[in-house]
Amino acid sequence: MHLIFSAWFYVWFLGGMFVNSLHIKEGMPHTLHERGNYSYLATPPSNQRALFEYAMNGLDMNFGPPFLACFDSPRYSAWYAVGLLARNEDDDAKVASKIIRDVIDFQYKDPSVLWFGTFKSHPDAPNPSPVYPPKIYGSYDSNQGLFVCTSWIIVMEEFQHLLEPNLVTLMKESMYNATVGDGYRVGGVDGDNLYPVYSNPWYMRVMAATYVGHMQSDANLTFWGNEWASQAIAEFDRFGTLSEFNSGTYSGVTLYALSLWGYMPKNSTIASRAKDIITKTWISIGNYYNPTLKTLGGPWDRTYGFDMKSYFGILGAQITGLIGGIQDGTAPIPSPLLGSEHYGDAAAVALIPLISKFHDPYVPASVLSRLTKMDSSGHTYFAQAVSPPFENPLYPRNYTSWTGNGLSAGGIQIDGREVGGAAINPTNFVPGVILWATGTGKTGWISHYATSSSISAVATSKNLTVSYPLPRRSARNRAIFRKSLGCISR
Ligand SMILES: *[C@@H]1O[C@H](CO)[C@@H](O)[C@H](O)[C@H]1NC(C)=O
Ligand SMILES: *[C@@H]1O[C@H](CO)[C@@H](O)[C@H](O)[C@H]1NC(C)=O
Ligand SMILES: *[C@@H]1O[C@H](CO)[C@@H](O)[C@H](O)[C@H]1NC(C)=O
Ligand SMILES: *[C@@H]1O[C@H](CO)[C@@H](O)[C@H](O)[C@H]1NC(C)=O
Ligand SMILES: *[C@@H]1O[C@H](CO)[C@@H](O)[C@H](O)[C@H]1NC(C)=O
Ligand SMILES: *[C@@H]1O[C@H](CO)[C@@H](O)[C@H](O)[C@H]1NC(C)=O
Repeated sequence: MHLIFSAWFYVWFLGGMFVNSLHIKEGMPHTLHERGNYSYLATPPSNQRALFEYAMNGLDMNFGPPFLACFDSPRYSAWYAVGLLARNEDDDAKVASKIIRDVIDFQYKDPSVLWFGTFKSHPDAPNPSPVYPPKIYGSYDSNQGLFVCTSWIIVMEEFQHLLEPNLVTLMKESMYNATVGDGYRVGGVDGDNLYPVYSNPWYMRVMAATYVGHMQSDANLTFWGNEWASQAIAEFDRFGTLSEFNSGTYSGVTLYALSLWGYMPKNSTIASRAKDIITKTWISIGNYYNPTLKTLGGPWDRTYGFDMKSYFGILGAQITGLIGGIQDGTAPIPSPLLGSEHYGDAAAVALIPLISKFHDPYVPASVLSRLTKMDSSGHTYFAQAVSPPFENPLYPRNYTSWTGNGLSAGGIQIDGREVGGAAINPTNFVPGVILWATGTGKTGWISHYATSSSISAVATSKNLTVSYPLPRRSARNRAIFRKSLGCISR
């Protein structure tokens, strides 16, 4: 039953691509004005172009009236609109313009509320009110404004000429409101967790404030863009790691945000460091990625799945853009992508190839080689990260891992304030995990579910040892769980 369903799905998807390519070939002749500039997609390298086309073919099928939207989401629709402008075939630019206007209709416009400037998560969500009590990430989501605003930086820089001037003006106002509204956020106040260690929205806020401050000549936003950049850099420089460390989704979002450095004023604080942070982040990704499993090994600070071939993670798209593998199925993204687990985020794939010119050159050759081929003997890796105020910088998280042929194991030592890491989410926080090739083409795993705020999970090439040290005041350390890798190593 399951097999039949997947086969049907696959045919449906291929059918979509077929229809789409016919559509392009048989398209009506256009005037130069209607066609706009076809050359944008000629610039990214072929792996990035293939990724873009693969994603857009899927998103085309997800997109449709009555609300001109992808996945019932203003944010994903905004991203798709950017992709349409990059593709700019047939009536793409016209549809994108309509989507952008619709998306702005779902932006909160009252500057006196805390959620000012962000976008509704769903078109049918009511406004927060006494009957739909205001709750961040509940009745409203402040990150939506950053997701949309940063993606429109690409439009301002690359595709403005495809839009009516009054729409460009409206977008600038929308980006300004999103950035000002983001400025209302303070970590630890009103239930907000936007501290510098919440790296993915934090780097988006840096880019939004830096860019919009310059675009709108708002010295205050420019000031805060540089200030927030300095705070982010200070966190990064503690251990040369992002505080949301090793995450198939959020490392991807942060790398997306960092790639926008190329559009920032040359003398902005973030423009001076983004390339270096991109490079260092990839050095750790290269040490966790297991090309024999085609997924990022653990442990993970925040994950939505364990095997990137069975759930979509934005980082999987970035790896695919670097090494290819859509045709032969070696790319670390689900195949088929359309309808896969966590598929909504695939709308980000419309953006990643467009800014790869500010990203791919900073991925070291040694990392590219680790993404494509396992080194003969496998490798261990050690890293540290810390997320104040959720942890004391004196007791950072320690990451140990083993990456070998058909096997990845990893552990985190954490002495935190909450159960589940800085995101306070034990479901997404995976302090100990072993992944292995089952021999059937699938990846198996066993993971440690956090129930304690103080955990010591240590991986070697031979074992993953989990214990529960008492929080710092005691040295007592009871080992209660040990998994030998001997029985599953290959
Ligand atoms: C088209 O895009 C290319 C490459 O991005 C650029 O050099 C050129 O100026 C663009 N042409 C127009 C008419 O915008
Ligand atoms: C931006 O915010 C102002 C209030 O400060 C509001 O009047 C305006 O409609 C908003 N613009 C957009 C595009 O949401
Ligand atoms: C300057 O921007 C910051 C951060 O967005 C904000 O908190 C502050 O209120 C702004 N100040 C003025 C005078 O607009
Ligand atoms: C950056 O350059 C702009 C002019 O392009 C200038 O107005 C601004 O003061 C400079 N900022 C810094 C921090 O040097
Ligand atoms: C991580 O290791 C360092 C020593 O390398 C140690 O000082 C620190 O306490 C460890 N962190 C945790 C959470 O155990
Ligand atoms: C785990 O394996 C390492 C490396 O072989 C070894 O040094 C260590 O003693 C082992 N730990 C336990 C608890 O067996």
